[in-house]
Amino acid sequence: MRYKFLPSFVKRRGRITQSQEDNLKLLPKYLINSFEDICSEKDNFSRIILEIGFGNGENILSLAKDNPDSLFIGSEVYLAGIGYLIGEIKKLGLLNIRITTGDIRLLIEQIKEPLFDDVLIICPDPWPKARHHKRRLIKKDFLKLVHPIIKDNGELFISTDWENYAESIEEAINLSHGYKSLDKSAYQASDLTKFQKRAAKEGRDIYAFPLQKLIK
Ligand SMILES: C[S@@+](CC[C@H](N)C(=O)[O-])C[C@H]1O[C@@H](n2cnc3c(N)ncnc32)[C@H](O)[C@@H]1O
Repeated sequence: MRYKFLPSFVKRRGRITQSQEDNLKLLPKYLINSFEDICSEKDNFSRIILEIGFGNGENILSLAKDNPDSLFIGSEVYLAGIGYLIGEIKKLGLLNIRITTGDIRLLIEQIKEPLFDDVLIICPDPWPKARHHKRRLIKKDFLKLVHPIIKDNGELFISTDWENYAESIEEAINLSHGYKSLDKSAYQASDLTKFQKRAAKEGRDIYAFPLQKLIK
């Protein structure tokens, strides 16, 4: 069977520690598989935020700690990162993080209504080689796909540590409808995550694209 989307990630198991492996056994407790799963939780929280590609979860953990009334759905396919995040959720006793583990585009397709207050994508895989640019997640098609699941005036925050990706993200935004660039964002680039830290260490800038979903 041909896969619907060209993979935007490398499905790597990575080096996985025994504690991450043990934590993964608890995944069912946090797992979100469907639109219905999110709906069954939403009345318990004032806001719902989706972070796509949370990596090791540094950003989602920090947000969830500071905003206990909001529900944070973290999307990732990288098992070591998922195991690490579960360990931190347990350690900190957080009750407001759920995890979805497949290609997020398959779940987004199922969601037929503006469910999320904000959607965040921090340093998506850069696919630096020209022949791999087609695998980049942030493209015009993706901006169109994600638009209906964001609430009116909600934010889509994208950042990248890769200049050439920033140029193509800007092009995709210019070709898209239904968003306005914001001057400021609550999610402005920081150096919390592994990829943000690596960029800072290597002297590369982070390019941030805070967008607001426009009311029709
Ligand atoms: C370059 S890493 C950045 C991780 C983290 N945000 C950071 O800044 O350290 C991008 C992550 O996005 C995940 N990813 C890429 N495409 C995805 C998709 N379609 N659905 C879910 N996760 C995806 C990858 O598995 C990878 O861990």
